[in-house]
Amino acid sequence: MLVHRELLNASMTYRAQRSVIENRALQYELGRRTSARRGVITIPVVVHVVSNRNHPEQDISEEQIRSQFTVLNQDFRAANPDVDKVPDVWKPLVADTRIEFRLATQDPNGDPTDGIVRVVTDRTGFDHRHGVKSSATGGSDPWPSDQYLNMWVCQLTGGLLGYAAFPGQPPHLDGVVILHSAFGTTGTADFPGNPFNGGRTATHEIGHWLNLFHVWGDDDGACTSDDKVVDTPNQADANTGMPRFPRITCNNGPNGDMFVNYMDYTDDAGMFMFTKGQLARMNACLEGPRASFLAAAAMPALAQEATVGSAAGAEAAEKFVSDGDVERLLHDSERLTVEVLNDIRAVLDTVAGRPRGREARGGVRR
Ligand code: ARG
Ligand code: CA
Ligand code: ZN
Repeated sequence: MLVHRELLNASMTYRAQRSVIENRALQYELGRRTSARRGVITIPVVVHVVSNRNHPEQDISEEQIRSQFTVLNQDFRAANPDVDKVPDVWKPLVADTRIEFRLATQDPNGDPTDGIVRVVTDRTGFDHRHGVKSSATGGSDPWPSDQYLNMWVCQLTGGLLGYAAFPGQPPHLDGVVILHSAFGTTGTADFPGNPFNGGRTATHEIGHWLNLFHVWGDDDGACTSDDKVVDTPNQADANTGMPRFPRITCNNGPNGDMFVNYMDYTDDAGMFMFTKGQLARMNACLEGPRASFLAAAAMPALAQEATVGSAAGAEAAEKFVSDGDVERLLHDSERLTVEVLNDIRAVLDTVAGRPRGREARGGVRR
C-alpha cells in the first residue's frame, strides 16, 4: 500500500507539473508568449566526479572538465567550429541560445569553491536509476538544484553515454549524468575511435534538462509523435553514426531528417545545432520551471550565483514579480486541477487493472 501511495503521489505531482510546463512551452512555441530574457545567462554548474576506487583514471582531470565547458559554451552560443557544416537549408534556423555555463565559484554555504566535488566509490558503475546522485548509494549528493546545474561524471553501465532529468523532476534527482569517457574532449574521452569524444553528450543532456525532446519524438519510427518544435522536421527514428544529407523519413522530403541536431543520436562529429524553435522551448523553461536561475542572475545582491550579461537583468527581475504572474498562476492552477483529476482517473484505472492508452511522458531521458 505504501508503494502504491508513493507511486500515486510521485506520478501525480510529476505529471501535474509536467503539464503546466508543457502548457507554457506551447505558448512560447505558438508565439503567444515571448521571452523577456535579454543578454546572456550564465548557469553555475557543480561537477560531481564519482570515481571507482580501483580506477583512478575515472577521477578525471580539471583540464578534461574545462574542455567540456569550452564545448558547451561554443555549442549553446552557435559558436562551435563545425556550425558551418549545417546544410544550407537549415542555416537560417541555427540558434544562439544565449546560455553559458561555468563552474560554480560559491558553494551552497557561500564559501569559495572550484565547483568540483570529488567522491571515490566502491561502485563499479551506475545505471540510469539515479544511484550516482546520492552518497547513500555510493554517489554524491546534489547541491540545491534551483541554484546549480548538477552534473555527475562517472562510469555508466550498459553503453549508456548519459541521461538527464526534465524540469519538474524532484530536486534530489535534478541534473545530468555523463559517462566520464564521453565528457569533454581530453583525458579519458581522448582515445582512438571514440565517436563520443566531442563533448556533445553533455550538450544533448542539458538540452533535455532545458526541456527539449528528441527530434524524432520517441515514437520508434511511427511518425505519429514529434518533439513539439515546429522548425525541426517530423522524423521517424533516431539517427546514429554519420548520416548523409538528405535522409528522408515520414514524408519529410526534400530536406529530410535534421540529423545534425544535438537532440538526435548521431556521433559527436555529426551534430552541430539547436534551432530557434528549440530555443523557444528552452526560454519557456528558463522563464518557467527554471526561473530561479534567471532570478539569481538578475539579483546578485541576493547572494546567488548566476550572472546575466546585460544591464537588462534588473528589468528581467521585475518581470518575475509583476506582469500578470498572479493571473498566470491562477490559470495554471485551474489547468492543474483538470490534470490532477485525470491523474486520479489514471491511478484508479491502474489499481483496477485497466490498461492505459498512453504512458506518462517524461522522467529520465537518454
Ligand atoms: N542519452 C544518450 C545515450 O546515452 C546520449 C546520446 C548523446 N549523443 C552523442 N553523440 N554524444 O545514448
Ligand atoms: Ca518537429
Ligand atoms: Zn536524449
